[in-house]
Amino acid sequence: MTPLSGVATLNTAATSRVAQLSDTHLMRKPGGTLVGLDTDRSLAAVCRLLNQQGPIDALLLTGDLAGDEAEEAYERLSELLNPLGVPSFWLPGNHDAVWSDDHPLRSHFKRSIQLPHWDVLMLNTQHPGAVAGHLATTEMEALEAAVQHAEATGRPLLVATHHPLMPVGCEWLDQIGVQNAEEALQRLAPLGEQAVVISGHVHQDSAQTHQGVQCLTSPSTCIQFAPRSAGFQVDARAPGCRMLTLHEAGRWQTDVLRVTDEVFPVDLDSHGYA
Ligand SMILES: [Fe+2]
Repeated sequence: MTPLSGVATLNTAATSRVAQLSDTHLMRKPGGTLVGLDTDRSLAAVCRLLNQQGPIDALLLTGDLAGDEAEEAYERLSELLNPLGVPSFWLPGNHDAVWSDDHPLRSHFKRSIQLPHWDVLMLNTQHPGAVAGHLATTEMEALEAAVQHAEATGRPLLVATHHPLMPVGCEWLDQIGVQNAEEALQRLAPLGEQAVVISGHVHQDSAQTHQGVQCLTSPSTCIQFAPRSAGFQVDARAPGCRMLTLHEAGRWQTDVLRVTDEVFPVDLDSHGYA
């Protein structure tokens, strides 16, 4: 398979505002549910929330965009996002189709997104046939090249992945992160506070640090998983997303946003989903 590639340059204001949307899990048909929650409706609610946030320069979608690999889900995802009028960049997760060479979704991927003061690196952690993630040689090489570029230029680096590089404190989820994350973290370590990693997969917000590198996860736009749970446990928290404000000189801020204008009940007794 040809390695994922592509560069996008966004001429934003000096401070860039980026929204991370993750784990939309859109099903084959509109109204499809995950643990009793309509994932189209919850994504629409998150889009309403984003509409109230003022100008946004880019949307980063960090995987599990479809719940069952259906083409129809990706078409509806585009339809839901297009009214926002914001460029969006997509990564695959373990619930997505494998993005083979001729797959239409590859056009939504850009390896690198260049902002006025930051570079964004998109990494594919999808490991076909597995729930856990893995950084293939091509992805690890892209990471190394981005780190070297950041060191040479002094430009801070935002890395986006589906599977997180660090444990979040949920035993069942921490077993299905990136299997070779240690190597990735070692490669990022020379950048210290000049590197930020954003990931999905765990359906909850979290923040950890590895040698100065900040590793963040985002809520899902649909169901949430309970923090510090040993096994599968859904949480009652509302659908949401993460906003990042990227300033010059490597300064940044982040906020987690949650839907408040609509209630999305979930089956808290659920023991899992396919
Ligand atoms: Fe997910």
